[in-house]
Amino acid sequence: MVRGRGVVFLPPFQEAVLSLRAHSAKLVARPVGRLQGRMRAPGDKSISHRALILGALALGETTVRGLLEGKDVLATAAALRALGAEITDDRDRGLWRVRGFGVGGGREPSDVIDLGNSGTSARLLAGILASHSFTSIVTGDASLRRRPMQRVIEPLMRMGARFEGREGGRLPLAIVGTDEMVPIEYRLPVASAQVKSAILLAGLNTAGETTVVEPVATRDHTERMLRHFGSEVRVAADDGGGRRITVVGWPELLGRDIVVPGDPSSAAFAVIAAAIRPGSDVTVEDVCVNPLRVGIFRTLRDMGADIVFENVREVGGEPVADLHVKGGALTGVEVPADRSPSMIDEYPVLAVAAACAKGTTRMLGLAELRAKESDRLASVSAGLSTNGVEHEMGAAELVVHGTGAPPAGGGLVATQLDHRIAMSFLVLGLAARQPVMIDDGAPIETSFPGFAQLMNGLGARIEAA
Ligand code: S3P
Repeated sequence: MVRGRGVVFLPPFQEAVLSLRAHSAKLVARPVGRLQGRMRAPGDKSISHRALILGALALGETTVRGLLEGKDVLATAAALRALGAEITDDRDRGLWRVRGFGVGGGREPSDVIDLGNSGTSARLLAGILASHSFTSIVTGDASLRRRPMQRVIEPLMRMGARFEGREGGRLPLAIVGTDEMVPIEYRLPVASAQVKSAILLAGLNTAGETTVVEPVATRDHTERMLRHFGSEVRVAADDGGGRRITVVGWPELLGRDIVVPGDPSSAAFAVIAAAIRPGSDVTVEDVCVNPLRVGIFRTLRDMGADIVFENVREVGGEPVADLHVKGGALTGVEVPADRSPSMIDEYPVLAVAAACAKGTTRMLGLAELRAKESDRLASVSAGLSTNGVEHEMGAAELVVHGTGAPPAGGGLVATQLDHRIAMSFLVLGLAARQPVMIDDGAPIETSFPGFAQLMNGLGARIEAA
C-alpha cells in the first residue's frame, strides 16, 4: 500500500475487494422524526405479472403503463419472451408493449426458465406451460427452490400435465405439457390466488369449462383482467361460503391497453412508517384499493391509525385511491384469521406497527406465511427478537406486545432472500431508539426498486451500511 498526503493508493485486488464492500447490500435505517410529503407506490406486482401473461396469451398488441419494473416481473417477461411473446419496453415513456402468441400458440423454450425469487411467476406460468404441448424446465433462486409447488402440480396433473422433479414437488421441475387438457372442478385446499390463477390460466387452453372453488375469496386480479381481455369468467357463491370461478376454454383474447395501479403491499411500508411517527403527514398516490387487498388498512384503522382513501376512482377495472395518512398513537388489536387472504403479504410490516403500538396485537391464521419467500413467521420473530420486541410465535399465529414507546432497535436482521422482511425492518429502524440494520437489501429489487430513495424523499434515513 502506498500512502500519499491523506490519500491511500491500493493495489488493484484490494481496491476491488474494497469496492465490493462499498457496494455491500447491508442497509441501515436510522430513527427520524415525522415523515412528510407525497409519493407514488410502484406498480402492483400481481397486476403487472397478469398484464404481461394475458398480453402474451392475446392476439394483437397490449400496451402496459405503470408496470412494476422489479425483478420478479422482469422474470415473467423473460419467460414469456422464451415462449415466443414479443415484449418491448420504452422505459423513458414508461410504456411496455406485448405482442402475444395467442391461447395455445406458445413455442417450446430453448433453455431453462429461471424465475429468480418469484413465486407468482412460478405458479402462474406453470398453468400455461402445463397446457401447451411442449416440455419446459423451470428453476429459481434458493428461496424459490424451497417453496411448495405441489399445490399447482396436483390440479395440473389432474388436467393431464406431467411433472418431473425433486421429491416434494420443489423446483427445479420439468413440466411436460399437453394441449389436450381435461377441464376440472377443483376445490382449493389452501386459499391461494396463485393456485387459483394457475388453474384458470390452464383452463384457457382446455376445451370446456374449468372451475375453481375457493374457500375464502382471494385477490381477483386474474378474473378481472381475463374479462378485460374478452374472456368469459363466471363467479358464483359456493354453498360452503366461498366462491366458484369458471372460465370457458379457448377464448379469443384480444390485446388491450392496461394501466397498472400502485401496489397496496408496497404502499403499506410508507403508510405504516408515517402511522408510527407522530406528526407525520404522507399521501401515497394511485394505490389499488381492491377490497380483496386492503385488509392491512382496515387493521391499521382498527388500531387507531388516521388513514383516509381520497379521490377514489376506477382505473382499468380496479378501484384506485390516494392514501392520506397522519401519524399518531396506535393500540394493539386482534386480527381475525379470515382477514389473512386480504393482507397476506403485509403481516411482517404489521408486526412492526404492532411493536410500536400500545398493548397486544394478536395475528391469527398465519400458516401460509411459512411458505413465502422465507418462513415469514420465523423471520419476523427473529427480527423482533434482535430488536428487543416482546412477542410470541405459534404454529400459525404471532402475538406482539407493544408498550407504546419506541422499541429498542439496534439489531441486525437476517433478510433470508425476502424483500418484505428487508423493508419491514427498515421501517422499524425509523421509529426505534437505535438504528436497525439488515444484512441484505438486494431482495428489495424484486418488488420495490427505489424503495430507499422514495422513503428518504419523505424524510426517512435509509442508507448503505
Ligand atoms: C399473489 C398471491 C399471494 C401473494 C403473492 C402474490 C398473486 O400468494 O402472497 O405475493 O399475485 O396471486 P398466494 O396466492 O400463494 O397466497
